[in-house]
Amino acid sequence: MSQTAHEPHEPETPHLDFEGTTPYEDYVRADVLTHLQHPLSDDPGEMVFLVTTQVMELWFTVIVHEWETAAHALRTADDIPTAIAALKRSIRELEALNASWTPLAHLTPAQFNSYRSALGEGSGFQSAMYRRMEFLLGDKSASMLVPHRGAPRVHAELEKALQEPSLYDEVLRLLARRGHAIPQSVLRRDVALRYEPSPEVERAWTAVYAGDPEDELARLGEVLTDVAELVWRWRNDHLVATRRAMGAKAGTGGSAGVAWLEKRARKNVFPELWTARSHV
Ligand code: HEM
Repeated sequence: MSQTAHEPHEPETPHLDFEGTTPYEDYVRADVLTHLQHPLSDDPGEMVFLVTTQVMELWFTVIVHEWETAAHALRTADDIPTAIAALKRSIRELEALNASWTPLAHLTPAQFNSYRSALGEGSGFQSAMYRRMEFLLGDKSASMLVPHRGAPRVHAELEKALQEPSLYDEVLRLLARRGHAIPQSVLRRDVALRYEPSPEVERAWTAVYAGDPEDELARLGEVLTDVAELVWRWRNDHLVATRRAMGAKAGTGGSAGVAWLEKRARKNVFPELWTARSHV
């Protein structure tokens, strides 16, 4: 045995020399990402408000990607395993999204007031990526495109999302292809309109849930229910954070504030997946 084999081996240190920017930078674009923070006030507490909002926008983007992946897998290939894998990733991402409320969950009105007026009419209501999430859930509304008329790329993406079947539309079409009695009024509905619950769809989910719990459709129903629950939690965490930070004042976006958000938070995502449970 050679002598060197007994000497403690120094671990290799990372490379330091690169021709241009680092491969990390080329991939992550961290230099761009960490220079997108431009607070509008002098208040030191505004930075975390801005960054939390940006972090949530990034999570919205990932979640939209997962739900579009799931919808595409069902539409083009009846590929339930790929859809379930994407939806399961989105469940972990929704949990991370919801956890990112922590830094803003206990703002006092005085703290929020320190930068609130600097926000002008700016409001999360104007988030196009959140709207794409809602559209994928079946909560379509053409009027939600109006605020984005001045931003051609965003407007075009939203218009496309409005006209495409939602994730839930794709799931219901799959149920029909698997022999469930989904009415034509659901299958051929105008997908640019908000999805309205149907008694036949409720019966279809009841049948799915009455059967083998390991059946692909039953497992799909459960991951969709997880998604629905976590979206509901995001809305409620937002509502409570808002109530703490500003009470019953009107919102910067022009709504009645908490009263308007309460109404939004009451909306059921994938409604029949909830109501069918009463009949199983
Ligand atoms: C504690 C801080 C926050 C307060 C007080 C607050 C307040 C409000 C209020 C009052 C509205 C209703 C619309 C309006 O009149 O402005 C709203 C909507 C909204 N906010 Fe926030 N917000 C906060 C943080 C956030 C964050 C961090 C996000 C992340 C992007 C966000 C996203 C949204 C979205 C997506 C809507 C529209 C909801 C819908 O259409 O149903 N908010 N917010």
